[in-house]
Amino acid sequence: MTRSKLRVLISAEKIADRVRELGAEIDSDYDGPIHLVGILKGAIMFHADLARAITRPVRLDFIGISSYGRGKTSSGEVRLTRDLDTSIEGMDVLIVEDIVDSGVTLSYLTQVLHQRKPKSIRIVTLLDKPDRRLRPVDVKYVGFRIPDEFVVGYGLDYAEDYRNLPEICVLEE
Ligand code: IMP
Ligand code: MG
Repeated sequence: MTRSKLRVLISAEKIADRVRELGAEIDSDYDGPIHLVGILKGAIMFHADLARAITRPVRLDFIGISSYGRGKTSSGEVRLTRDLDTSIEGMDVLIVEDIVDSGVTLSYLTQVLHQRKPKSIRIVTLLDKPDRRLRPVDVKYVGFRIPDEFVVGYGLDYAEDYRNLPEICVLEE
């Protein structure tokens, strides 16, 4: 394994504060239960913390999407690897993502979920790398905008490593 260095970009405390703010904002924007759809596996920490920062009723669901393989850049190919457990017809769906990069994953996913006739679909992402966008995505809630650097931790991985770091770190070779 090549040695990589980690530089903390966003501390665990800053993440927790921002997640609390997002939860409060989401709480006041909706008036019914929210179907929280987490994108596996990167969004699991954010999904779990955000769900607890929202006080109105939520349902937790997950969808599996693969677009990256083992590298640092998208293969450009998107695949559904695990579907939702329940119908989202008539529901207020909030897609919970770890990071929006090229936008390929989310533009594909919103298209797929729209066909299932939810009442609404919005996107919340912890991180946004706007410099790298290839497809436009309408992201309603953003935790942090970050520069074009590869980050790991708090669910995000590099070749499946580093997901359990409590903070967001830049991975430097
Ligand atoms: P997009 O389809 O290019 O927007 O890619 C989104 C997905 O790529 C995210 O859900 C992540 O899984 C992955 N990704 C993008 N940038 C990073 C990064 O800096 N670190 C780890 N994963 C990333
Ligand atoms: Mg992901």
